[in-house]
Amino acid sequence: ETSEQKQLVDLHEQAVKLYHHILVNTKMGRPALDYLRKRGVNDDTIETYQLGYAPQTRLLKPFFDQRQIDYQLLRKSGLFSEDQEGHLRDRFIDRVMYPIRNASGQPVAFSGRLVTKNVDLPKYLNSPETELFNKRKILFNLDLARPNIRSKQPALLFEGFMDVISAYQSGIKNGIASMGTSLTEQQIYDIQRITREVIICYDGDAPGQKAIRRAIDAFNQTNHQLNLKVVSIPDGMDPDEFIRHRGADQFKALLEHAQSPIEFELTFLKNQANLKSEAGQAAYISDALKLISSVPSEISRNLYLNHLAEEFEIDKQVLKKQLVPLVRKVV
Ligand code: UTP
Ligand code: MN
Ligand code: MN
Ligand code: MN
Ligand code: MN
Repeated sequence: ETSEQKQLVDLHEQAVKLYHHILVNTKMGRPALDYLRKRGVNDDTIETYQLGYAPQTRLLKPFFDQRQIDYQLLRKSGLFSEDQEGHLRDRFIDRVMYPIRNASGQPVAFSGRLVTKNVDLPKYLNSPETELFNKRKILFNLDLARPNIRSKQPALLFEGFMDVISAYQSGIKNGIASMGTSLTEQQIYDIQRITREVIICYDGDAPGQKAIRRAIDAFNQTNHQLNLKVVSIPDGMDPDEFIRHRGADQFKALLEHAQSPIEFELTFLKNQANLKSEAGQAAYISDALKLISSVPSEISRNLYLNHLAEEFEIDKQVLKKQLVPLVRKVV
């Protein structure tokens, strides 16, 4: 850690405090506080995550100017946008502020969520890449979740911060999330350093289901030794919505019934197939056989074949002959 990095962390710590103060103690923060409460976020959670609010009035820049913070440092922090003449202005306006912390718990960036719906602006705005913040390397909540994951809980991989935070608030404290990007090799490596088990808990909507397939691919492209599982959240909900509507115990029940990636993929293919037509059935069976071919364990392959044979009342030996000659991925 260089002295500049230390100064940048210090700057972020001050910004966290200021935004948090605005949220919890000022009239300006009221709409954002109401918004969070309406979402079921309680005061403990606001404290734990030091949630904040960047108001409509830009005030971070004047705050740092008063403290005579060096211009170049402010520039490098990512907290400001810069115009043609090099003038800095607060980047985050009218957003609930989620501090992003590195694995040691130091704040290195923010994600800001719109309080007032506005289709012209992104719902979430993240800090840009800086000396402190590389979004491909950071896992949200790893600092708080790590001790729990280490004490033999699986790592729960969520899509959004609110899913992680909502789970945490309901006592499920082993959740992490990537920063709205698909999972990187570095992140997979960091997860693997602390656990052998990962459950992917992405959103139950169509984009979430696609993201699950991408995440499975990302895992498969590394030589990980993880026991990977997947949950499907019903009715298009995301984990935050599911926990709020059905409670933590039901979410834990979903975790108990997590599927293997192959099972997930088979279900996914089946949902897309038109099983009413024979052509649709044949297409599904052919896709399913391709997938089953890729399973390294012969015993598991046989179990999946049994299911498929029963489901479509086809002789298992016929299916077995159709297994694609194996070109297996390196495990
Ligand atoms: P979602 O659209 O599922 O948002 O995006 P969410 O987490 O459920 O948020 P709420 O409940 O509406 O507040 C999942 C994740 O994708 C990233 C964020 O990390 C978000 O948590 N994302 C989404 C962005 O980075 N920018 C966006 O504009 C939208
Ligand atoms: Mn406080
Ligand atoms: Mn989503
Ligand atoms: Mn959500
Ligand atoms: Mn979501």
